[in-house]
Amino acid sequence: MKVAAIGDIHAPLFLDIFRRSLDKFLKFEDEVSLFLIAGDIIEGKRLDQLKDVKILLDKIKVPIYACFGNNEYQDNISLIKESLPNVHFLDDEYVELSLNNKRIYLVGSRGVLDQPTYWQRKNWPGIADVYRERTLKLKQIAESGESDYKVLLIHYPPTYGIIEGENTKFLSSIGSKKLETLVEMFDLVVTAHAHKGKRYAEVKRVCVYNVSLPLTGEITIIDLDRKRGLDRFFLF
Ligand SMILES: [Fe+2]
Repeated sequence: MKVAAIGDIHAPLFLDIFRRSLDKFLKFEDEVSLFLIAGDIIEGKRLDQLKDVKILLDKIKVPIYACFGNNEYQDNISLIKESLPNVHFLDDEYVELSLNNKRIYLVGSRGVLDQPTYWQRKNWPGIADVYRERTLKLKQIAESGESDYKVLLIHYPPTYGIIEGENTKFLSSIGSKKLETLVEMFDLVVTAHAHKGKRYAEVKRVCVYNVSLPLTGEITIIDLDRKRGLDRFFLF
């Protein structure tokens, strides 16, 4: 079973890359069962871009599931959901899917940072508590759920292994090492946010894919039935 995934469209910034890679993808869409978006669909204030994003996403016929990114501001969540009705958003939530006779337990979240960014610390008192509570909630959700595949879709990288390439001084404000214990509870993790990170890393043999569009330049296809790691990349 193949899953398509992207993150960080940051419309309008990388909308053209998405448009081009989508054209290529649509020719092979029949081979894919699910489309995942790992957050940052638009640039924070550019709600006007949702119209253009919708036109592209409407071309996709397989189910689309997404988590929010830090660019999807909390105040805009309702509007974003209404503007993209064919996208099922998971905000610290899970869904049980049955695809190709397999049960998939999919969990979606913005994720957490080990250290909130300077902006977050200044403007969002209590953000550290939000991250702490989210970590507990995600672990609770991950513990339940009987399935063939447990998949975590999470905007902030839940391991530093995949953000090598970013400035090492700021790793704790780009992702989370503490969340590696959550990663271990899944079969597959799809993340984004690290535009200069690596495409692939492993945490205790769990595969973590960074599907950030400015990094990959294309829609990432992951074949869940192939063995492991890079073997799972399926290139059209
Ligand atoms: Fe981001």
